[in-house]
Amino acid sequence: MRKNIEPSALARDARFNRQTTEERFADLRDTMEIGKVDPKAEDVADRARRRMHGIFVGEIQALEGAGRTAFDFGTDEVPYELKLDMARQCWDEARHCEISIKLAEHMGGELGEYVEATTLFEAACHKDPVFRLAGVNRALEGLAIDVFTQMREFGEEMGDPILEYCEDYMLADEVTHVRMGSRWLRAVTEDDPERRAAALEFQKVVDGLFNFRGQRGEEQDAPIRLARKFRKMAGFSDGEVDHILETSLKQRAELASDRMAASILAEED
Ligand SMILES: [Fe+2]
Ligand SMILES: [Fe+2]
Repeated sequence: MRKNIEPSALARDARFNRQTTEERFADLRDTMEIGKVDPKAEDVADRARRRMHGIFVGEIQALEGAGRTAFDFGTDEVPYELKLDMARQCWDEARHCEISIKLAEHMGGELGEYVEATTLFEAACHKDPVFRLAGVNRALEGLAIDVFTQMREFGEEMGDPILEYCEDYMLADEVTHVRMGSRWLRAVTEDDPERRAAALEFQKVVDGLFNFRGQRGEEQDAPIRLARKFRKMAGFSDGEVDHILETSLKQRAELASDRMAASILAEED
């Protein structure tokens, strides 16, 4: 088996429809209004299925990424216990894939119904394992904590105990995965503050992208609500959560002004 494969080498069968990271972030349809899984929206079932499909493709990539990290690095590069944690994560993510497939059926959806962006796997192919921990375990699995917390409440609100329990189960594992990221990022860079700072900077870039131009917030009806309590259980500081929030609010204001400028230009035409 080859080590350190290119992100483009990710294998998929014909059921999957890949979208590039550039396409994913150029597509604003998912931003703000229709991105929100709003119980009152007419197309709420579709919104919920789309969000859970996005989570499902993240689960497979997290499985593949954790497997890569366990395999790509020797014990001269990472502690053996880090590799064991990545192996344990594979086990969890494999279960999450199974849960997600069954949950999609339960929600009336199917595999490949929505596109798959492979940004998570791209971050999981970084040549430095510390960047993988920052970009995948902390930034993207941190996003999973936000989404699972919110979808668990959504399941409760919709009177769907299957959705609620699935989300609760996966949320517990994701808190563990983010905590692993926090722990190993700190441990591996203990004597290398520059490497730690660079990895945390990379995490901020990934977090900024996955704010989806301002979808994350802390207000009750935010399209994606930051799960501060669970993030803190997973090793985030309040300052780190505040930074994601402030960045998101800034992006939201920029998006609103971009849209206003676009509508003025359209009126002038
Ligand atoms: Fe997962
Ligand atoms: Fe995970």
